[in-house]
Amino acid sequence: MRIVDLRSDTVTRPTPAMREAMLRAELGDDVFGEDPTVNALEERMAALFGHESALFCPSGTMTNQIAINVHTRPGDEVLCEEGAHVYRYEGGGMMANSGCSVKHLPADRGRFTVADVEAAINDRNAAYLANTRLVVIENTVNRGGGAVWDIAETARIRNTCDSHGLALHLDGARLFNALIIDGSSTADWGRIFHSISICLSKGLGAPVGSVLIGDRTFIHQARRVRKRFGGGMRQAGMLAAAGLHALDHHVKRLADDHARARLIGAAISARPWCERLMPIDTNIIIYDLRAERTAKEHVALLESKGIRCFAIGPSQVRMVTHLDIGDEDAERTIAALNSITA
Ligand SMILES: Cc1ncc(COP(=O)(O)O)c(C=O)c1O
Repeated sequence: MRIVDLRSDTVTRPTPAMREAMLRAELGDDVFGEDPTVNALEERMAALFGHESALFCPSGTMTNQIAINVHTRPGDEVLCEEGAHVYRYEGGGMMANSGCSVKHLPADRGRFTVADVEAAINDRNAAYLANTRLVVIENTVNRGGGAVWDIAETARIRNTCDSHGLALHLDGARLFNALIIDGSSTADWGRIFHSISICLSKGLGAPVGSVLIGDRTFIHQARRVRKRFGGGMRQAGMLAAAGLHALDHHVKRLADDHARARLIGAAISARPWCERLMPIDTNIIIYDLRAERTAKEHVALLESKGIRCFAIGPSQVRMVTHLDIGDEDAERTIAALNSITA
C-alpha cells in the first residue's frame, strides 16, 4: 500500500527534472566562493528581496541560528512567540549557540502585535535587565497552522524596532506560501526585515537548503559564523541547482497545496471526532480531537489506512500538503478520514 505522507512538507523527493538540473550544475569550491551555481542562487535570492547579499546554508535551523548569532551578544534577549521554531524546535540553539535569553510574546496563532513588542522591550537604562536586542517573526507560522502575518502590522513592528535599536529577523521557512495568499512580493517583505531565512526544502521541494538574506556586512559576518557552525560546503552547487529549479517551477503550484489542504480540512471538520480545526490559510492543517481517542491512537489508525501524519500534542494532530501529494492522495486521505466514524 502506498503511504500518503502528510507529516511535513519536508518529506518531498526531488522531481526527475530537478534531479536533471542538479546533475547539470556547474560546480566549484563554495568555501572559496568559487561555486558558480551557489553564487547564482545567492545573487538571485538577494535581488528578489532587494537586499545586497545572501548565503546558502544546509538548513533553516542553520540560517536562523546564524542570524541570531550575528544580531546578538551573549546575555541579550530575543523576543519571539512561544511556539516559534527558533525557540522550540532548534535544539535550544539560541541559548546554546548564542547565549541569548528569550521573552515570549502573547500571540494569536503565532502572530503578535506592535503593542506586544513595545510592552516587552526592557528599559536599557536598567542595568539589571537583559538587553532586548532582536525580534523574530515566523511567516507562515508552523505551530499556528500555517497562519499568515499581516504585512502592515509587520512594518509597524519594524518601526518600533528602529526606534529601540532592535534587529528584526524573519523565519520565512514558508514565506512563499504566504505570498500566494496576500499577493505581497518578496521585495515587500525584504524592505521590512534586517535578515530573512528562506527554506528551499519545504513547500519548494528541494532536497536540502535554506538561504539567509541581508546586507553585505551582515552576510559577511554570517559567512564566518556558518563556517564556525560547520556549514561551509564545498561543491554545493548540486544542491543550489535544486533551489534554482524550485524557484523557477515550484512557486506558483503552492496554491494547489493550499486548495488540497482546504479540501482535507473540510472533511475533518465534518467528522464527529473533530473538536476544533484551526483555520486553514496555507498548507498546514491542525486539529484537536474529542476526548474519546488520543492523537497517537488517531495517528496509528490513519497509518493503518495508509495515511501518515503527526501527533503534535496529546489530542492535537498535524497534516501538511506538499509537492508529492496529488489530487488522488487528497481523495484517499478524505476517504480514510470519512471511514473513521467515531
Ligand atoms: C518555521 C520553520 N522554521 C525553520 C525550520 C527549520 O528548517 P530545517 O528543517 O531545514 O532546519 C522549520 C522546519 O520545519 C520550520 O518549520
